[in-house]
Amino acid sequence: MQILDGKKLSQKIIEHITLENIKLKEHYGITPGLAVILVGDDPASHTYVKMKAKACKEVGFYSIVHEMPESITQEKIEETIILMNQNPNIDGILVQLPLPKHINTTKILELIDPAKDVDGFHPYNFGRLMQGLDTFAPCTPLGVMELLKEYNIKPKGLDACVVGASNIVGKPMAALLLNAFATVDICHIYTKDLQSHTKRADLLVVGVGKPKLITADMVKDGAIVVDIGINRLEDGRLVGDVDFENVSKKASYITPVPGGVGPMTIAMLLQNTLKAAKKRIQD
Ligand code: GUN
Repeated sequence: MQILDGKKLSQKIIEHITLENIKLKEHYGITPGLAVILVGDDPASHTYVKMKAKACKEVGFYSIVHEMPESITQEKIEETIILMNQNPNIDGILVQLPLPKHINTTKILELIDPAKDVDGFHPYNFGRLMQGLDTFAPCTPLGVMELLKEYNIKPKGLDACVVGASNIVGKPMAALLLNAFATVDICHIYTKDLQSHTKRADLLVVGVGKPKLITADMVKDGAIVVDIGINRLEDGRLVGDVDFENVSKKASYITPVPGGVGPMTIAMLLQNTLKAAKKRIQD
């Protein structure tokens, strides 16, 4: 069994982006900029946004966080997005999800200029992803693809199973794997017999948010197992959706939690922001 080390790969990508950033500044005078909109007091969202801002600083990007109270109106968020769309120093716009219940999230995401949609959540970019066109792919599934590539794992022809069908993770993950010619099963809360799907997968990708959802009896011998779940247990420990201790005995490759997909998400956000900033050169 080999560990898919996302921490190590993300550091390598961050070093590469740091160098690219220096070149961009030297040759074109461009500093990539990321604007983050953070609404409310959800502690996990605050932690993620802090990590994203810190990563921007580390590679030398400009970043700004627009913090808004839980009671903010739809109009105020929309105004901020319109300003960021127009701001030439901002290349990427990210709205940390989830938003409060009174906010229409779809309308907010659709307002982001698709050219600045570094999270890849705009339906325009998602449509392009489904068609296998160049686009901004959502950072977590993109991070999984990079991790597979680093370990020379080729999805082509593999039976893949994606557990979880969210717009952020499961659906784009399935699209990326399909684009790489895997045969893809997508399972979700109404799947009748989850084990019958997971058990036949050469490549199992899980992003649900339920500790120990995937036990060893649900996994094929020699499978590649990617765990996107991040769950905090009552004792404070962070675990994924996979019973790592037992599943790792059967898997050929497996991601740890923490240190697997998590750091890759941040690295891909930087990569997407760099890609957005490079569009300024062509303009
Ligand atoms: N909430 C949970 N994951 C994500 C993510 O990848 N991006 C954003 N914007 N919000 C999230």
